[in-house]
Amino acid sequence: MTTTAPRPPRTGGSGRRSGAESDAAGLPPGRRRRLSSLLPAGSVALVVGYLVRRRGRRPDLPGAAMGVKVVAPRRPRGGARGAVWTGARARAAIGARTLRTDRYWVQPLITVVVLVLFIAYSTVRAFQSAHYFSEPYISPFYSPCLTTGCEGNTFPKLFTGPSWISPAIYILIFPLGFRLTCYYYRKAYYRSFWLSPPACAVAEPHKRYTGETRLPLLGQNAHRYFFYFGLILNGILTYDAVLAFRDQHGAWGHMGLGTLVLVANAVLLWLYSLSCHSCRHIVGGRLNSFSRHPVRYRFWTVVSKLNARHMQLAWISLFGVALTDAYVYLLAGGVFSDPRFF
Ligand code: FES
Repeated sequence: MTTTAPRPPRTGGSGRRSGAESDAAGLPPGRRRRLSSLLPAGSVALVVGYLVRRRGRRPDLPGAAMGVKVVAPRRPRGGARGAVWTGARARAAIGARTLRTDRYWVQPLITVVVLVLFIAYSTVRAFQSAHYFSEPYISPFYSPCLTTGCEGNTFPKLFTGPSWISPAIYILIFPLGFRLTCYYYRKAYYRSFWLSPPACAVAEPHKRYTGETRLPLLGQNAHRYFFYFGLILNGILTYDAVLAFRDQHGAWGHMGLGTLVLVANAVLLWLYSLSCHSCRHIVGGRLNSFSRHPVRYRFWTVVSKLNARHMQLAWISLFGVALTDAYVYLLAGGVFSDPRFF
């Protein structure tokens, strides 16, 4: 004879029955099975009903009071990575390009003018390949001067390049890349050159927005590597500033106005680099607890304070580089002599 042991009830391991199960316990087996098959369907219906009610209860959107037809923003389809957010569906349907009445275009205009002037000046100077060294000062555009064709000997000459290539070309790519990929400059030139957008609450002229998820703007992610090269260049320009304490004959203990100019330029470049967003992440990022890393916390606190001034430091250091080069250019061209303090 075969005997079957009674099975324990399926209660999910807790040993307790839910209310529905308790109510159904007194029913005959056939009706109990039908009821249990209906339970999941009922739960789904409840959830669907709740979601439908939520969709119908949208909050009032800004602009509705002004008689403007407002379209609620929609999330891009296809996930966050590589998604294309088509601006037409994401923005309020306002006929005017902007409702702003202030002169929001002044700041982008100034940015364009200053950057174009700097680009024009630095391009001319980089290709000029002359008047970049006046003992003991070297222009930051030409430092480190690496080829055997370089004037002066502030840095070891490492190779002989074609004479028609200016020595500045070999090194300008790094400071240029550093500034071009800088988070602040990106905002500045996206707004001023590409009008993307020109200011807050002003529609941009482009139909599609793909952010920095595709080439060539994907290359902006190289900023951290340019930051490392920038630190090396800062070290070399600091070395140049130290050499500026020698006189024309190589004797230490000299200080002229040019010495102060080179020192100020190096200090501004360090401040600009240390206030970089990548620097802030390098010193304080990827930590779960600052209390376990007090030294990094100290660095992070200092860098954060500088970071709050990153925009100002970006502009001041840009002017600093251009003015230092102009000073050396005028000295080397014999326009005036370097005022000497001792
Ligand atoms: S964010 Fe501007 S230099 Fe790094």
